[in-house]
Amino acid sequence: MKITIHSRNERHEFEADEGQSLLMAGLSRGYALPYACASGTCGSCSARLTAGKVEDLWSDAPGKKSTAKADEILLCQCAPRGDCEIELKQSVARVAPEEVLPFAANGTVTRWELLTHDVASWEIELQEPMNYQAGQFVLLATPGLSGYRAYSIVNHERDSCRLELLIKRKPGGGLSEAYFGANQVGTAVRVMGPFGQAVFKPSLQKNLLCIAGGSGVAGMMSILSHAQELDYFWDRTGAVFFGVRSMRDTFFLERLAGFTRAARGGLDVTICISDESVSLDVAHQYPGLAFTRGFVHEVALKQMAGRLSDVHAFLAGPPPAVDAAMRGLVLQGKLSPTCISYDKFN
Ligand code: FES
Repeated sequence: MKITIHSRNERHEFEADEGQSLLMAGLSRGYALPYACASGTCGSCSARLTAGKVEDLWSDAPGKKSTAKADEILLCQCAPRGDCEIELKQSVARVAPEEVLPFAANGTVTRWELLTHDVASWEIELQEPMNYQAGQFVLLATPGLSGYRAYSIVNHERDSCRLELLIKRKPGGGLSEAYFGANQVGTAVRVMGPFGQAVFKPSLQKNLLCIAGGSGVAGMMSILSHAQELDYFWDRTGAVFFGVRSMRDTFFLERLAGFTRAARGGLDVTICISDESVSLDVAHQYPGLAFTRGFVHEVALKQMAGRLSDVHAFLAGPPPAVDAAMRGLVLQGKLSPTCISYDKFN
C-alpha cells in the first residue's frame, strides 16, 4: 500500500505493510513522522486523512482528544486499508543514517521478578538483536491481549537480543494488570521499537540531571549504564533523584549504589520518599545513596538550585510530576527547555 504524506511544501511516499500502523510504516522506512508515546495516549501524531481508508486499531485511544475533526486520525493507531494520503502540519525530515530504525520482532520472557508490590522486572530474549539509545522505549504486546503498550528499556547493551523492562501494575491497565497474575517466564511477546527522542547524547558533554518518579526510573537506569560504560562521570557530574511514595515502593537501590561507586564521586543519587519518614535501617544499608523525605521534583529543585548550568535534564514518571519538574526547572532554575528531555507515555 502506498502512503503519501503532504507536509508544508513537501511530499513523501513510502510503502506500508498489511496491519502496520501508519506511524510504524513511516518510521521504519526512515521518515521522522511526529510522535511521542507511539501507543495512542498523547495525541502528538495527529494528522488529516485526505484520501483512502484506514482501520482504527484502538477506538478508545486517549490521544483522540487531539483529533476533534472527522478527518483527523492518530498515525500510531491507524492501519491503512489501501493507498492513503495524509496531511501533516509539521515538516517531515529523513531520519539520520546513524539512527536505528524501529522494527518488529518476536521474543520470549526469560526472567520475571516482582520488585515491589506493583513493579515487576521482565527480561525478554528477542529473536534478533535490537540496538537502541539509552532512554528509549519499546512497545510490547502479548497474545490474547489487544494492542501494544510502551515500556522503557532498563539495560543498555549493543547488538544484544536481551531487553530488560519494568512493568508497572495499573489497576484496569490491560497488559500490566494481566502480567502480575503469575510468573511470566516463557510468555511469547511481540516487540516494536526502539522509539523515543529523550535519549542520552554523550557527545553533548553535559552534566546529567535525572528526575524520575516510580517506574519512570527505568530509562534513567539505561542512561546510567551507558554513562558508566563511558566513564562519563570522570569529568562530568550526575545527579539522580528517584521518587517513590513509601519505603516499600523502593527498588534498584543496590544497582543505583553500584552506579555511585563506579562514578567515584561524580554521581549523587537521592531517594525521595513522599509519604512517610525514611527508614534509617535502609538508609544505613546503602551508604552510597542519600535518602530524604519529600516530593521528588521539590527535592530536586531545592538541591539543584544554583547548579543547573551546563546541565541536561531527563524527566520521567507520572505526568503531573514531570510537568511540575519541567515548570520548576524552566521558571525557577532558568534551564532552557532544549536542555530538558522527556517522553510522554506514562
Ligand atoms: Fe500517537 Fe502518542 S498518540 S504518538
